[in-house]
Amino acid sequence: MGEFPIIRMRRLRRTSALRSMNFKARIHPSDLIYPIFIDENAKSPISINSMPNCYRLPLNYLINEVERTLNLGIKAILLFGIPSYKDDIGSSAYDKNGIIPRAIRIIKDNFSNEIVVITDVCLCEYTSHGHCGIIKNGDVDNDSTLEVLGKIAISHAEAGADIVAPSSMMDGQVKYIRRALDDEGFNDIGIMAYSAKFASCFYGPFREAVDSRPKFGDRKSYQMNYGNKDEALREIALDISEGADIIMIKPALAYLDIIALAKERFNVPLAAYNVSGEYSMIKAAAQMGWIDEKSAVIEILTAIKRAGADLIITYFAREAIEWLKEI
Ligand code: PBG
Repeated sequence: MGEFPIIRMRRLRRTSALRSMNFKARIHPSDLIYPIFIDENAKSPISINSMPNCYRLPLNYLINEVERTLNLGIKAILLFGIPSYKDDIGSSAYDKNGIIPRAIRIIKDNFSNEIVVITDVCLCEYTSHGHCGIIKNGDVDNDSTLEVLGKIAISHAEAGADIVAPSSMMDGQVKYIRRALDDEGFNDIGIMAYSAKFASCFYGPFREAVDSRPKFGDRKSYQMNYGNKDEALREIALDISEGADIIMIKPALAYLDIIALAKERFNVPLAAYNVSGEYSMIKAAAQMGWIDEKSAVIEILTAIKRAGADLIITYFAREAIEWLKEI
């Protein structure tokens, strides 16, 4: 053996304390963003079949919900609304007394700047056809959708949102929203851009949750083609040049390569969205007894962090806090 000395990597794996010392990609509670669904019609929490432990909440549950989240050390929430009515143009999305502005006001009246309120800016939860924009000639029309996105962002900013998160994948949406916000004096309100949002099957449970499945066609003419990473990097670069404060990659698990590339290339805070389908797969396998949920969640969130995400949006956020303390 003398001639071929063995490099003993196992030395640092010998005890739990040594392993903990050597664990690098640690997640802090303030790295996590917890999504919350608010339902304008709900009278009590409505469970979401494919997302165990997630609910569509009525407005009067919000204070308690935010309090629980803050008490765990999580500093940010991402709000999604299910409106009382939907129409062709998604007008409930920019109603100043719509579900999201009302929710923001309740949160900010009670918690002020203790919590970072991020809002999804999109149309699919608000349109009767379930697409993320205005339909013209059978497809989503880019430029008329931008105008609506601008109105939505302003309605959220007026109510007190800290950050708006445009997610409809229209070209120029970050630029348009930045300008709309600035014109109204909201230059302090940030933009977290869903920059590389892929046309993914992993949004399935979310669409059940908020009832936003497109009534015809799919989202492939606006969400990204997952067979092309150059396009993802180009989308991200564009969003940065248009004024994005935080960039996002979505989904997370099948896109760790994109997260790693983006982290290397750009020095803008990077968020990854561990989406509904990624959540449901773990929950389902755990319910079957086929996987240990806690270990799977720690491993997955660590992998997303290790790949380069500064922030992780995840439905596991609250459950994971206790588990993450153990590493
Ligand atoms: C669009 C939006 C979607 C998600 C977040 N914002 C749905 C979609 O693009 O179809 C999906 C999130 C998830 O799957 O957890 N408003």
